[in-house]
Amino acid sequence: MESLYGGATHRRVTILDLAGAKARNEKWAMLTSYESMTAQIFDEAGIPVLLVGDSAGNNFLGGENTIAVTVDELIPLTRAVVRGSKRALVIADLPFGSYENSPEQALATSTRFFKEAGAMGVKLEGVHIPTVEKLVASGIPVMGHLGLTPQALHQLGGYRVQGRTDGDSIIEAALALEKAGVFAIVLELIPGELAQKITASLSIPTIGIGAGKHCDAQVLVWTDLVGITKNPPKLAKAYRNLRAEMLAATTEYADDVRSGTFPGEEQTFH
Ligand code: KIV
Repeated sequence: MESLYGGATHRRVTILDLAGAKARNEKWAMLTSYESMTAQIFDEAGIPVLLVGDSAGNNFLGGENTIAVTVDELIPLTRAVVRGSKRALVIADLPFGSYENSPEQALATSTRFFKEAGAMGVKLEGVHIPTVEKLVASGIPVMGHLGLTPQALHQLGGYRVQGRTDGDSIIEAALALEKAGVFAIVLELIPGELAQKITASLSIPTIGIGAGKHCDAQVLVWTDLVGITKNPPKLAKAYRNLRAEMLAATTEYADDVRSGTFPGEEQTFH
């Protein structure tokens, strides 16, 4: 696969393809996805990696943040994303409370995502070195996540930029995760200069979200991308306003039903 975007479509993207992209200096985009329809669309657009984020907890299941979402809730969503895509590498986020106890707990949770949903890798927040080593040794590709780690929301005191004063500790954490075997690291809400430094220090790809333009890849929550999210975070860019489009379509439909315009002759069987 010469390019992550233009490559063969008969097989899934792998972590080796992502390593190749880093070596070629090729940038790529990752998106979250929580069900099969969006997975189909993003796959068709050539997005090489789909993340079934624990952000499903707030963006799909109506929670206040990512903390409450469970493994049992994320498994069917992951299965749907795998079913909806043909080419993307599908990564499952390990939700809060499902991996921190021990490497064994993390392996048991990841095994469920692999066997029950067909996930091809997992993501976990923070620095859990023995856990990463255990998963990698068991054949499970691991994506790291540093900077703002939303599962630690209450510990961090809110959604605040990280690494302004303690950038060195994030660099050290990234190097330790790389050594432990992660195949990529998400860098969330850190200064662009720090992300640039981390990206240059690692031989694995960095995936930025609110981390400036020098990361190897970028990730967005899909509802932010298309403008469905009501109050999107500053780090996001809405490429369309689907919220307005959907609201208009729904209002028109309801009006048509009320006025008797829908269904029309075209939708009527004789
Ligand atoms: O859950 C999620 O959507 C994420 C991304 C923001 C990286 O972790």
